[in-house]
Amino acid sequence: MNHVARLVREHFAGSAEVLKIGDLPVTAIASRYGTPSFVYDRGIMTKRVSQLRAVLRDEIAIYYSAKANPHRSVVAHFVRLGCGVEIASKGEYLRALEARCDPRKIVFAGPGKSEAEIELVLAKGIGELHIESLTELDRISRISRRLGLRASVAVRINPTAEAQGGAMRMGGKPSQFGVDEEGAEAVVARVLECGDVDFTGIHLFTGTQILDPAILLTQYRKAVGIARGLAAHFRRPMKTIDFGGGLGVPYFPHEQELDVAALSKGLDELVREVRADPWLSGARLIVEPGRFLVGEAGIYVMAVSDIKISRGKKFVIVDGGMHHHLAASGNLGQTIKRNYPVALLNRLTEPPCEKVDVVGPLCTPLDTLARDIDLPEARIGDLVGIFQSGAYGLTASPTQFLSHPPPNEIVVEQGRIIDDPALPVGG
Ligand SMILES: Cc1ncc(COP(=O)(O)O)c(C=O)c1O
Repeated sequence: MNHVARLVREHFAGSAEVLKIGDLPVTAIASRYGTPSFVYDRGIMTKRVSQLRAVLRDEIAIYYSAKANPHRSVVAHFVRLGCGVEIASKGEYLRALEARCDPRKIVFAGPGKSEAEIELVLAKGIGELHIESLTELDRISRISRRLGLRASVAVRINPTAEAQGGAMRMGGKPSQFGVDEEGAEAVVARVLECGDVDFTGIHLFTGTQILDPAILLTQYRKAVGIARGLAAHFRRPMKTIDFGGGLGVPYFPHEQELDVAALSKGLDELVREVRADPWLSGARLIVEPGRFLVGEAGIYVMAVSDIKISRGKKFVIVDGGMHHHLAASGNLGQTIKRNYPVALLNRLTEPPCEKVDVVGPLCTPLDTLARDIDLPEARIGDLVGIFQSGAYGLTASPTQFLSHPPPNEIVVEQGRIIDDPALPVGG
């Protein structure tokens, strides 16, 4: 079974010739809202949260990483499901508040936090700030003093050994993220000395798109080891161990779904160790995934606007492009350009009969959304969909490039449109 067929079977029940997203025919969504559009199904997000909760049980809290998809109805959904929110900017903080997240369930990571951002989150309330440098500690400590409060601060650590195997590794090498493990003791000492903030613990996040549970467990184990070492050294119990995000979803045919059962087994053991360690037993454990929770829930839906043949090669030209979905064009940090799962959404059951490139309307060859893919013979007006587009899609794209209008974003759930762009704020 090919990748699209597997995804349709798993997430888009009731689809036949026409794809149904959240039980709504995509043709109906497209004729009401037009194309190009991102359509997000909250039912799939709910499924992913339940699946992850079954693995983490009550031992490890889930904080949704808002950078993956900051759409207001998406963030609100995760908050309603009981997740905290991991933010990396003032904009994401305000989005989390708008989603009615309890400020105590927000953590703020990311390099270069500005005075204004720190002041805003401290004045309005926040669970923790995860510092990435001593400059940030100084800023937070000064602002805390001025506001007459004590900020809770964890230290983000750039570990010595990287978690091999994910895309975009962020550990084990020089990095703008976190403080080097080699210097972590000195940084924690400064946090403890500064007198204006409360030290809560550590945060480790080394890579994204990790599909091998063994690599995730290695990263988590590393975090526990560092936490244990620091706690014993300073003779202070840890209050927080944040394991980061990084859980992947399969984009390409050679990739397998993350084996959550294997992750669960390893985690049970790790959690038992943590709870048996007097320095760590009371620690709040956190994961902060983005991609895993929302990646599979989104489809980028476009219409075919032209079809051409150039020197024997067929190009299917669609009304969306890399300005909305940079990742699918292979230009968001990928070293090898591979095709996301793509299909004609109104002709799902037709067998493929030709190889084509699917390209957008921008005046650059970079605007190629799929190369040499097998499709049924496309016609103008057909709907082309890129699956696995819920995370790092629109939010990670150069929307101003070539001044095309932005796409619609439509959120659906169990046969309903949740956030109708034509109406005031919905669910
Ligand atoms: C600090 C931090 N936490 C969480 C995430 C979410 O990662 P993912 O979507 O791979 O789970 C990121 C992504 O870059 C991040 O930088």
